[in-house]
Amino acid sequence: MATDHPQSAPGTAAAAAPGRAHGTRPRVLSGIQPTAGSFHLGNYLGAVRQWVALQESHDAFYMVVDLHAITVPQDPAELRANTRLAASQLLAAGLDPDRCTLFVQSHVPEHAQLAWVMNCLTGFGEASRMTQFKDKSAKQGADRTSVGLFTYPILQVADILLYQADQVPVGEDQRQHVELTRDLAERFNGRFGRTFTLPAAYIVRETAKIYDLQDPAAKMSKSAATPKGVISLLDDPRATAKKIRGAVTDTDTVIRFDRETKPGVSNLLTIYSTLTKEPVADIERKYEGKGYGALKTDLSEIVVDFVTPFRERTQEYLDDPETLDGILAKGAEKARAIAAETLERTYERVGFLTAKH
Ligand code: TYM
Repeated sequence: MATDHPQSAPGTAAAAAPGRAHGTRPRVLSGIQPTAGSFHLGNYLGAVRQWVALQESHDAFYMVVDLHAITVPQDPAELRANTRLAASQLLAAGLDPDRCTLFVQSHVPEHAQLAWVMNCLTGFGEASRMTQFKDKSAKQGADRTSVGLFTYPILQVADILLYQADQVPVGEDQRQHVELTRDLAERFNGRFGRTFTLPAAYIVRETAKIYDLQDPAAKMSKSAATPKGVISLLDDPRATAKKIRGAVTDTDTVIRFDRETKPGVSNLLTIYSTLTKEPVADIERKYEGKGYGALKTDLSEIVVDFVTPFRERTQEYLDDPETLDGILAKGAEKARAIAAETLERTYERVGFLTAKH
């Protein structure tokens, strides 16, 4: 599995990080928004799948980012339900509360507190150049865009720096935010003394960007114009199978991986290969002389076999909110212990008078 983490070998930054014990496992941190209800296949293959694997080798922190979710208008009851739903899906995907720290962002007030400090360190022009903000605000217009959406990446910076994360497992669309995190960490360290670990994006090349089944030039996204090209993991599996059978391919019939000239087929091959762990070359060989129909039918089955138990496990967590809330409370407690230490050091570095309670 080719990954992309430009920084030093895992562990080196961890050993030197302030507030971190020597010899500990490298730390990863990541987050997912609870905005859409169901995760889609891009979320799973691009990020969550890596989260599950990394909890075995890393000191792992994963959160449901509800503070980020209110940067666009939200319905309070829906947000609450979707936050539980997101946590349930993460557990259904394989996160194990004994192996990682799973929590809800708003349960750890230090995120908003560190974000303020980071806001004051960020240039207005620098924040204006964030492409996700530019895209979203262009779509909805300046008057309907909140200041929260503008400072969204800076809250994400705080998320990462609070835990002195070494690596941040995400999809390609988050790379710029991780780069901003490095820039701000360097700036802070340069101005106030070494305080933050410089994190690296952990991006698996093959699945860095899963594409929309109807528009293979666009990434699969919860805000897609139509749900037809988006595989929502909690959808009825029959609807999912139908979407795959209806995926846009090309007028050729050869099953070959080529992102440039055959983006639709290549996307299907990526999904097939990651879910079955079969190398793409083997799959190409298997379907030699067969049409796209055969590939799509088999892939529908593979995806349905994946989503069916996933949906069931998600429902089991949803049916037991007491257990779920207990897991999240424990996670928040563990996260807070670390976040509070980083925030205290940061406050001291910037020159705030120590509070005497
Ligand atoms: P979010 O909620 O949009 O997406 C969650 C994760 O899914 C990845 N992803 C994809 N990967 C491959 N192909 C796709 N089509 C695709 N669509 C989504 C995203 O890259 C992401 O890793 N800003 C973040 C959440 C966040 C965060 C953080 C992440 C908040 N704080 C701190 C890391 C560290 C977001 O909106 O992800």
